[in-house]
Amino acid sequence: MNPNKALWEKGDFTRIAESMRESGEALVSTLGITERLDVLDLGCGDGTTALPAAQLGANVLGVDIASNLVEAGNARAQTLGLTNCRFQEGDASDLSDLGDDSFDLVVSIFGAMFAPKPFDVAKEMVRVTRPGGRIVMGNWIPDDPTLVAQILRISSSYSPPPPEGFVSPMTWGVEENVIERFAAAEVPEEKISFERDTYTFNFPGTPSEFLAAFRTYYGPTMNAYEAAAASGREAELNAELDDLFTSQNTSPSETATSIPATFLRVSVAV
Ligand SMILES: C[S@@+](CC[C@H](N)C(=O)[O-])C[C@H]1O[C@@H](n2cnc3c(N)ncnc32)[C@H](O)[C@@H]1O
Repeated sequence: MNPNKALWEKGDFTRIAESMRESGEALVSTLGITERLDVLDLGCGDGTTALPAAQLGANVLGVDIASNLVEAGNARAQTLGLTNCRFQEGDASDLSDLGDDSFDLVVSIFGAMFAPKPFDVAKEMVRVTRPGGRIVMGNWIPDDPTLVAQILRISSSYSPPPPEGFVSPMTWGVEENVIERFAAAEVPEEKISFERDTYTFNFPGTPSEFLAAFRTYYGPTMNAYEAAAASGREAELNAELDDLFTSQNTSPSETATSIPATFLRVSVAV
């Protein structure tokens, strides 16, 4: 089994995605989506950004490596009565099912960054985008002090070293790497712009309950707990993450959690 696929089919990412809906909609509202625009959402999960794009009238294809998330996305589109949005399985490193110049807009919010072979990912995103089209990526930033970068940093310190040749997904949060990867896909630097943006996670429970959702449903965190348990450090990992979730919570309510997280927004003109 492809380890990248296994990681994201583990658990149930839909349970985390539920906390990301408001920011997903807000981000999509800034993308200049018009009726019948052809949009590819890459690493779309269960449709946090794909569905709002379809609600604005775009023809949306969501592609994700995890079959459970593709199924969840199609079910959500059906519930919403959206006939202009469908989801299918695919790997951002190899989109051979999709033709050249097929989309006006390729969106990938914390999606394609998790695919292996980042140079292939950049090349594929450029290949399927029409000349004059755009690519917009949201990428977590290494060493950023906010939630997701810190979860991944803490988790990796409890996990065995990655296999040789592994390229960290977080490298997509470094501007020089993004420029280099798109340059190899023949997109010059002046066609790429960067901005820091914020996604806010909203959860109807305490920060510790939100952490429990990550522990139970989010593949990368599940793996970190398993690795920590194997070395007798599970309680230590839990305490460290619990401090993180509690200290980052900005909700004044005792029964709700709201955590803003910074990401790098990458816009590419093709
Ligand atoms: C953090 S989730 C984000 C999902 C969605 N974009 C959202 O904002 O809710 C990362 C997603 O990337 C998908 N993914 C990881 N590796 C992938 C790959 N190689 N090709 C396509 N999707 C991939 C995962 O299955 C997962 O749905």
